Amino acid sequence: MNEFKTNFTLTKKIDHIAFIMDGNGRWAKAHNRPRTYGHKVGCDRLIDVFEYCKVFHIKYMSFYAFSTENWKRPKSEISQLFKYLEIFFKKEIDHLMRDGVKIIISGDISPLPSKTQKTIKEALVKTHANDKYFFNICLNYGSRDEIIKATKEISALVKDNRISIDEIDNQLFNKHLYTSEMPDVDLLIRTSGEERLSNFLLYQSAYAEFVFPKVHWPDFTFDVFISCLQEFEGRNRRFGGIKNEK
Ligand code: FPP
Repeated sequence: MNEFKTNFTLTKKIDHIAFIMDGNGRWAKAHNRPRTYGHKVGCDRLIDVFEYCKVFHIKYMSFYAFSTENWKRPKSEISQLFKYLEIFFKKEIDHLMRDGVKIIISGDISPLPSKTQKTIKEALVKTHANDKYFFNICLNYGSRDEIIKATKEISALVKDNRISIDEIDNQLFNKHLYTSEMPDVDLLIRTSGEERLSNFLLYQSAYAEFVFPKVHWPDFTFDVFISCLQEFEGRNRRFGGIKNEK
């Protein structure tokens, strides 16, 4: 049981929900605090959001934690973000284990500080066999890089005569994405009112619904989450056809 309760019933199925956790800096500024404090509170919000998702039996979650473009930020902000990430794993790993969560990391973590990499790898090993929930953290992630990586891997298979060009289809392509164990995104939420994808899960969001709540990520409460689900509930998903298919 968790503390989040609602009378709202979601009738449309959400398998995979994705979050662009935007607005930490603006939230901190509005509270006269340094930007990094916004990231600290943003990290705490992440585990709440996992609990929100559990209420609606949403099995797959993706979070955009650090993009390939975020290296342009001040070094001090970057290193503090990685420290919060380490704290998150150390603090929450037992909780995630109890709930049967498998951690997935999308992105190349090799440029991250070695201590951060070690913490992440331990969490990956520990949660490897879990399959009740999938918690995908996108770290040093960029969707275009991911698509190029997949294309290179598949090209190498063709070059080595291990597959033919005709065998390349969406199913095969999907196997070469970081999210190979996850279904397509159903609902993508970006906080803070910005309405952009910013190189996040481009391939996986082909038929996603998008919701852009005005609040900054640290203020993403259960009530705001419910309002996003209500908006999703009102959408007519056609997947290129003429009626709801999910
Ligand atoms: C965007 O806000 C936020 C980020 C670039 C970082 C998001 C990361 C977290 C919330 C922590 C993730 C932690 C774990 C454990 C996965 P911004 O700084 O761009 O805000 P602004 O647009 O208001 O400046």
